[in-house]
Amino acid sequence: MHQEFWTSCWIVRHCGLTLSMGFGHRNCVVLGYPNNGQRLGKWAATTCELHGCNNGSSMCDCQPPFKLFPFPTEKKNPERRLQWAKNISRNSLNGTLWMPNKDSRVCNLHFVDGEPTAETPDPTL
Ligand SMILES: *[C@@H]1O[C@H](CO)[C@@H](O)[C@H](O)[C@H]1NC(C)=O
Ligand SMILES: *[C@@H]1O[C@H](CO)[C@@H](O)[C@H](O)[C@H]1NC(C)=O
Ligand SMILES: *[C@@H]1O[C@H](CO)[C@@H](O)[C@H](O)[C@H]1NC(C)=O
Repeated sequence: MHQEFWTSCWIVRHCGLTLSMGFGHRNCVVLGYPNNGQRLGKWAATTCELHGCNNGSSMCDCQPPFKLFPFPTEKKNPERRLQWAKNISRNSLNGTLWMPNKDSRVCNLHFVDGEPTAETPDPTL
């Protein structure tokens, strides 16, 4: 749905960017979860032994170890964006509700269906 893994991978593989430049600055913003773009980049550089192809290439059937989902945008769905932030319920340093920035992601582990769906569109911790 809002999954951006393959798009990012395409950029890494076909535009000659180094893996760390690709999407390594994107992090699952739930505290205590180390899933981030850098780990995806490392995985994408490995071989899928099962199918004999490159992990991270779109022709390869090996599934990534996790997926990162961007927040609904302020422009398209401010209510949903706020709901995600509320559900994640992180505090800013000054005690107010933490809000996402453009690199903020939520990994699949925090969605009941493994991704945002019509039934459960918001993350739970
Ligand atoms: C390639 O990806 C598969 C599926 O995620 C994983 O089981 C396998 O260990 C990966 N290959 C390497 C060399 O890490
Ligand atoms: C608290 O910090 C956040 C993030 O740094 C900032 O956006 C917000 O304006 C601050 N609020 C107050 C009341 O200082
Ligand atoms: C998060 O979102 C859903 C509504 O979409 C709700 O059912 C759930 O209880 C919310 N709260 C938390 C803390 O996960």
